[in-house]
Amino acid sequence: MNQHFQHDVLVIGSGAAGLTLALTLPSELSIAVLSKGDLANGSTYWAQGGVAAVLDDTDTVQSHVEDTLNAGAGLCREDAVRFTVEHSREAIQWLIDQGVPFTRDENTSPDDAGFEFHLTREGGHSHRRIIHAADATGAAIFNTLLAKAKQRPNIELLEQRVAVDVITERRLGLDGDRCLGAYVLNRTSGQVDTYQARFVVLACGGAAKVYLYTSNPDGACGDGIAMAWRAGCRVGNLEFNQFHPTCLYHPQAKSFLITEALRGEGALLKLPNGERFMPRFDPRAELAPRDIVARAIDHEMKRLGVDCVYLDISHKPADFIKSHFPTVYERCLTFGIDITRQPIPVVPAAHYTCGGVVVDQHGRTDVPGLYAIGETSFTGLHGANRMASNSLLECFVYGRSAAADIVAQLPQVSMPGDLPGWDASQVTDSDEDVIIAHNWDELRRFMWDYVGIVRTDKRLLRARHRARLLLHEIDEFYSNYKVSRDLIELRNLAQVAYLMIRSAQKRKESRGLHYSLDYPELLPEATDTILSPH
Ligand code: FUM
Repeated sequence: MNQHFQHDVLVIGSGAAGLTLALTLPSELSIAVLSKGDLANGSTYWAQGGVAAVLDDTDTVQSHVEDTLNAGAGLCREDAVRFTVEHSREAIQWLIDQGVPFTRDENTSPDDAGFEFHLTREGGHSHRRIIHAADATGAAIFNTLLAKAKQRPNIELLEQRVAVDVITERRLGLDGDRCLGAYVLNRTSGQVDTYQARFVVLACGGAAKVYLYTSNPDGACGDGIAMAWRAGCRVGNLEFNQFHPTCLYHPQAKSFLITEALRGEGALLKLPNGERFMPRFDPRAELAPRDIVARAIDHEMKRLGVDCVYLDISHKPADFIKSHFPTVYERCLTFGIDITRQPIPVVPAAHYTCGGVVVDQHGRTDVPGLYAIGETSFTGLHGANRMASNSLLECFVYGRSAAADIVAQLPQVSMPGDLPGWDASQVTDSDEDVIIAHNWDELRRFMWDYVGIVRTDKRLLRARHRARLLLHEIDEFYSNYKVSRDLIELRNLAQVAYLMIRSAQKRKESRGLHYSLDYPELLPEATDTILSPH
């Protein structure tokens, strides 16, 4: 039996952005936070590196802004960058106040007047400005925020809930465009329930799962981007997919990232013969922005016909390596690689969706009452290439600004009236699940082959034809069969893949993460790629 629920705020996604927003909202509001699987299944939990912020007295807001603009290859919105960086210190203070156990600097004591936390470096940053919890920052932040959320009786944390679509006045054939809630599959009951809400927040992460090889967990399917698009929102800059240069290359190691902080602390990239190659590509060598490092690795792998390159930190003292990178050390050891003595085999893999749902400085989308925050959104912070560790920062800054905006809007927004339940009268149980599995595989493979680190017009055209066919087939399947998590995710992934391809075809230049052999030059004017569903 389908159920109906009412909340002031419905948050779809339980990562850094969603939990920050929920914890920042007043405790009088009823809030539901939905997770597709277990609460810890999102990308936040997996984040290793840290959070970029201006925390050291020798660092400045201007320097962080300039580094971000440089990494973004002329496409960042400077107001969004400045807004984010200017709020970085207070966001970190908020996390410290929540109790996040950031790694302390061994050289200062908590009684010292100065800043007592250790700051590391990552690519593109001209200063040490990454606050971290060893090499498991995401887990430390997530566990802390989740524990806080569990103490708040007004926050309901709901697992195994997969949002199918948001409900808008337009979808119901009513006057107006406001978002009124969402239809959500309860994986335990198998029913699609109706969640009414005064405000809906998409905090569902990115879409790196669109590629065959990714550093992301299984849920990174672009759900928020696809739902917002179907609800009538514009999306921006979806051609900019960031490939992390260093994921562990091992047949049994699915999606394991080797944090960029290793390179920040001196790890070197080497060819199979032990030769260092990054200085040939950029004066910043291993600490160049990610687009440059990933492309250099891809180039060397193709030139030499090798399966991977190597990341070597074994010249550092073993104690240093074990205390700064315990997660990487332990994980590599399980695959027989002792990183204190051996180089690590690495390859680039899809890591971050720089574009997303177009929002303003408060996370507001084009649809009133619908917000998007974190990786789901396109704020203009990342431009054509996100700088390392700016993404978690964006989650906290925009999670907090969206919460403030919701509070400001509350007096004008009442609870929507009764909404119609999900209609499953025309669909049956699927006896063709093989189609879903096959389409998943096909989509991720052609995206990897045709829409990867290096693109051409021909490959993009091929990808577009295939994506259109798949979308059509999936839509037909969706209309005829009961929804499941796999089907919902595949539908979203195919939609976002199609939007990515269309965006890539529109860009007739090479900029940041979008590199085309047909247009290798940079155009003099930097413009965003904005797609509109209308
Ligand atoms: O390399 C890393 O630890 C990843 C950081 C990031 O994506 O910001």
